[in-house]
Amino acid sequence: MLASLTLLLAPVSPSPLLSVNRLSHIHTSHSLPAADLLRATSRRLVLATKIQSVSTMADEEVNVGNVKRKLAKLFEASLKATVPNVPDVEPLVAVCTAKFGDYQCNNAMGLWNKIKGKETEFKGPPSVGQAIIRNLPQSEMIESCSVAGPGFVNVTLSKTWIAKSVQKMLIDGIDTWAPQLPIKRAVVDFSSPNIAKEMHVGHLRSTIIGDTLARMLEFSNVEVLRRNHVGDWGTQFGMLIEFLFETVPNWEDGNGIAIGDLQAFYKASRERFKNDPDFKERAQKAVVRLQGGEPNYHRAWVQICEISRNEFHRIYRRLGVHLEEKGESFYNPYIPEVLKELTSKNLIEDSEGARVIFIEGFNIPLMVVKSDGGYNYASTDLAALWYRLNEEKAEWIIYVTDVGQQQHFDMVFKAAKRAGWLPADNNTYPKANHVGFGLVLGEDGKRFRTRDTEVVPLVDLLDEAKSRSKAALIDRGKDVEWTEEELEQTAEAAGYGAVKYADLKNNRLTNYTFNFDQMLNDKGNTAVYLLYAHARICSIIRKSGKDIEGLKNTGALVLAHADERALGLHLLQFSEIVEEACTNLLPNVLCEYLYNLSEGFTKFYSNCQVVGSAEETSRLLLCEATAIVMRKCFHLLGIVPVYKI
Ligand code: ARG
Repeated sequence: MLASLTLLLAPVSPSPLLSVNRLSHIHTSHSLPAADLLRATSRRLVLATKIQSVSTMADEEVNVGNVKRKLAKLFEASLKATVPNVPDVEPLVAVCTAKFGDYQCNNAMGLWNKIKGKETEFKGPPSVGQAIIRNLPQSEMIESCSVAGPGFVNVTLSKTWIAKSVQKMLIDGIDTWAPQLPIKRAVVDFSSPNIAKEMHVGHLRSTIIGDTLARMLEFSNVEVLRRNHVGDWGTQFGMLIEFLFETVPNWEDGNGIAIGDLQAFYKASRERFKNDPDFKERAQKAVVRLQGGEPNYHRAWVQICEISRNEFHRIYRRLGVHLEEKGESFYNPYIPEVLKELTSKNLIEDSEGARVIFIEGFNIPLMVVKSDGGYNYASTDLAALWYRLNEEKAEWIIYVTDVGQQQHFDMVFKAAKRAGWLPADNNTYPKANHVGFGLVLGEDGKRFRTRDTEVVPLVDLLDEAKSRSKAALIDRGKDVEWTEEELEQTAEAAGYGAVKYADLKNNRLTNYTFNFDQMLNDKGNTAVYLLYAHARICSIIRKSGKDIEGLKNTGALVLAHADERALGLHLLQFSEIVEEACTNLLPNVLCEYLYNLSEGFTKFYSNCQVVGSAEETSRLLLCEATAIVMRKCFHLLGIVPVYKI
């Protein structure tokens, strides 16, 4: 209980802008009046108890699924007893890398450095380690402990406890294993293509990665504002509108279809803009008229946005991704006030006719007003950040774009820190993070593109993934065995799942090579392999003919065989892995977990007979638990599970 409360109560450093209305949310600050602090604190207490009451666990059991944190709590108590004169020693608990145990506590060495030379009963790190073991509170979690090497305390978990915990999950549901994060609301700014321009593979990566991060946060009971920050404002609209007036005279009675292929339209208008000075001048004036709110300019803009939006939605629908559009234009009215505030805080200076913010560590300043008086990408992002913190009261704001935009976000975040919107310390909420990713490369090692177009149309790409996976299913005779609907659904699940998983399994910062053959392979670390592994488990359970729901309550899960124990332990580590993937913003951590889970299952299944064995009930329960955790992983990765192969 205590451990999680300290986490929930982590203070936010004082922020000058922190207004009382922000406190109605859950931020606390050192500068708060006592009554407000109390109110904010008790709200958090409510939050903590609420999460607890969801499960059927006893009162002291928070972090139901988080083994690492549960152990940390035990070691915290032991450390207090072992070195009462050294205050606030943070327990260092990690998964054991060597074969000496399941987890290890690494405090003995550091502690020894603090206490040696002083009056102490200990003779070195190993004897500190021994004392840590002696002082551990009794717990059913632990089977045995030992000290190894220079003082590592190794912990072997009790397999009875592992089995009990997995069975409890089967009864109470996987949601009791949801991570607990110290925040209530987050913004994930992802996908965010630009109106009238192509949505390219970079936006596809942003869509896939952002959706996963949002799903992990949602699973952790955080309210997520899924923001599509589309580029719907800016000088290109003058050009587009002028071109629309010129080439589609009856644009108003049309329904947008008149523009046809919007990308070709964009290209043609850009050509015109480049080659015709008269047109260019009209286009520039059109921007002013649009921004001045002239009705027909506004209507034309709305129509162009609508066409783009429909195109984007075709992709989102296929990918099963939900987004809420708040484009650049939305923040436009907030820019003047926000810049006024930054000016009053002496952040903004004149520079060669423009208005800029100089930021330590950067040679060039962040331009916030162009020399023609117009706003830009940075002014919009400052206004959007202000809005998200103050109006939407988000405590964590996550931006998913290619690494090329890292500097932009670094500068925006630093400016926000100087303004006091964000705390100086990166580990304190409210937080803003840029989640960068590398390029998508083609077979030739160059930026991914098709032979005849500059960028790959995403719809074509998804079509191809699906048709290839369908062909593979037909090859295996599934068109005869299954209904057309089953065939379609499985082809989509495997095809789109393959595209997503191939993207997510790599550390996002690295470039990745787009290769259909590889991603659709049914062997190796691919979505197809994993989906099949899941379906196979489901079929084992089906073929047993047993009522698995009933067995959850009547049967007992026992982990006798070493491979059963290993699988049970891996299942139990799900919660801490999701938490790690989520807090470090690294979906590949979850992919790796899922792949290892599947490998662990294979090992168990090849060494332990399930159906027809004496241990059938227990082993079926282990199969079911594996399938449940796999499905949750698929869900978090945005992959639709399949049940038949
Ligand atoms: N529209 C931008 C692009 O295509 C991405 C926007 C990302 N979000 C933001 N708040 N700047 O590059």
